[in-house]
Amino acid sequence: MELYVDTANIGQIKEAVSLGILEGVTTNPSIVAREGRPFKELIQEIGSIVPGKVWCEVVATEAEGMVHEAREISTWVPRAVVKLPMGAEGIKAASRLAQEGIETNMTLVYSVPQAILAAKAGVNYVSPYLGRVDDTGWSGADFIRGIVNAYRMLGFDTKVIAASIRGPRQVLDVLQLGVDAVTMAYPVLMSMMRHPMTDIGLQQFLKDWEDAGL
Ligand code: E4P
Repeated sequence: MELYVDTANIGQIKEAVSLGILEGVTTNPSIVAREGRPFKELIQEIGSIVPGKVWCEVVATEAEGMVHEAREISTWVPRAVVKLPMGAEGIKAASRLAQEGIETNMTLVYSVPQAILAAKAGVNYVSPYLGRVDDTGWSGADFIRGIVNAYRMLGFDTKVIAASIRGPRQVLDVLQLGVDAVTMAYPVLMSMMRHPMTDIGLQQFLKDWEDAGL
């Protein structure tokens, strides 16, 4: 199972990387825009902190521009994964980048047919958005199960990375569906470590230790 934190915030990335349990960092244009810094400079700084993969999305809307940006991005950091938006242009760009050996992810995937075409185009990862589907009242889990089953049945080796995760329970749910990877916001990652009984237990251990005066 691969685990990623979905942020471009340097403080959060340093803290998350120091846990020593991540395969890398994922970003998207909204997350990058929030930091208010030049794109390349920010991604390069992230690359200098993260020992694993750095995922970075193109903002061009046509295949030619996407391929151009992908080539650029893949020179910024050693283990770049270029994110392409789902759609005809993203599919065209993915097919071309697969020939060049640039690692890619098809993002903004909301249906099984989309995921199948992305795999046919040769992307390394596909990102179904669990939380955003659940927000609409549909079942994100059913849709991700559909992708995992379709990939197994059709023999695709494209990895499924569940995105848009809202809490620790959803992480468990998608892992039980058989996804290969999960990305989540920093607060969700941190909340996976917490449990009130752990805090109560630790306080008690420390108090007993102090009271014993050993
Ligand atoms: C995936 O790569 C996206 O960046 C992300 O998971 C979106 O999540 P959100 O719905 O919490 O914005």
